Amino acid sequence: MRNTIGVIGLGVMGSNIALNMASKGEQVAVYNYTRDLTDQLVQKTGGQTVKPYYELEDFVQSLEKPRKIFLMVTAGKPVDSVIDSLVPLLEEGDVIMDGGNSHYEDTERRYDSLKAKGIGYLGIGISGGEVGALKGPSIMPGGDRDVYEKAAPILTKIAAQVGGDPCCVYIGPKGAGHFVKMVHNGIEYADMQLIAEAYTFLREKLLLPIDEIADIFDTWNQGELKSYLIEITAEILRKKDERTGAPLIDVILDKTGQKGTGKWTSLQAVDNGIPSSIITESLFARYLSSLKDERTAAEKVLAGPETEERHLDQNVWIDRVRQALYMGKVCAYAQGFAQYKMTSDLNGWNLPLKDIALIFRGGCIIRAQFLNLISEAFDKQPDLSNLLVAPDFAEKLKEYQSGLRKVVCEGISSGISFPCLSTALSYYDSYRTGRSNANLLQAQRDYFGAHTYERTDMEGVFHTDWH
Ligand code: 6PG
Repeated sequence: MRNTIGVIGLGVMGSNIALNMASKGEQVAVYNYTRDLTDQLVQKTGGQTVKPYYELEDFVQSLEKPRKIFLMVTAGKPVDSVIDSLVPLLEEGDVIMDGGNSHYEDTERRYDSLKAKGIGYLGIGISGGEVGALKGPSIMPGGDRDVYEKAAPILTKIAAQVGGDPCCVYIGPKGAGHFVKMVHNGIEYADMQLIAEAYTFLREKLLLPIDEIADIFDTWNQGELKSYLIEITAEILRKKDERTGAPLIDVILDKTGQKGTGKWTSLQAVDNGIPSSIITESLFARYLSSLKDERTAAEKVLAGPETEERHLDQNVWIDRVRQALYMGKVCAYAQGFAQYKMTSDLNGWNLPLKDIALIFRGGCIIRAQFLNLISEAFDKQPDLSNLLVAPDFAEKLKEYQSGLRKVVCEGISSGISFPCLSTALSYYDSYRTGRSNANLLQAQRDYFGAHTYERTDMEGVFHTDWH
């Protein structure tokens, strides 16, 4: 019997995807460029579950036709080099799927070149980390729909399931799947930073003990903030360092790493005139965190505000922080989904926003209960340009804005930095301002550069002799 699918790239993610496929009844062929990882996987499974191949040709020959090959190799050049080695061994109608965090423009280039050779190519966003890959990730496939149909029975089976529905849906043509995954990661960056700022308020402003903060996150996780990132934050806060017995978080160096997908999200937003300020601020917060030495030196030189100690009623403020976090998250997701909408309109992708929210409910890192509300908002109004104005969200934010304002003001007046919470508030206030100060900027541009301006009361383009 021939193998029904092949997996190339047997790092943790690739091995787990292969095991996931095997556990769902697929006959899985596996191959890795170096044999050590193949051997490790075989040892781990006793050679029972997946079938190892050590020559690419044998691996390809073992697959039923049309062949379906899933790549889980490092994004960038390695993907091109695997594709180059595979192409001479494939036939028309075969399908290559890239499940890595590839840049969507690379995916489009690969798609075009393989399509010209009659080989189907799917760029597949996968979210959920190692555990998701093994037990069910969120899957965002992009490419030709008929090519997707060939792989759909396997992809929907290995995806996370929520309420009996797979967290896998056809996203759109060419690089659309990887684009959706990229912005997912941008939202992930913002969500993580917002949580970190809420934690900072509880710890540094309310001076709560860390275990109590963990309890607060647990409680929040029972309500409308329920999400994977809130859940793991509670667990992280409880974890003690084996060496010192201190909370582990207190001995972790405060420099955030990144692999690039959040940066790509911001670059794409900037290139296309998409106001993605919270996501971009969360990226800058990571960059600023990396300047550890400079920050440590500046701490000794730069003054903060003179603050009067004032009593803050803990229960009142804990709830304000909850509201601030919820509203910050809504603003961040609103930016991410606006980026989907604007890019979809630009490229004619017709991204299924309602379904994207649904497949994010399981498996992925940003899985959260309020994705149900996001999905409902797009269900009611498929061409909704911004989630903030969806009636249910607008109503909620009317109630929560005061919490966000108070938390940001309190933080700022104490000299604590809240980059994403304050940016979320600015975004909300800018978005709801019908008449902004951009008129002054237009006047300045016209003053020094004769760049012209439009008027509110007449059609046309105007220039004033300002001098
Ligand atoms: C996921 C994650 C995953 C990952 C990224 C982001 O959806 O499963 O987003 O893709 O953790 O590598 O990590 P960085 O923070 O390193 O950019």
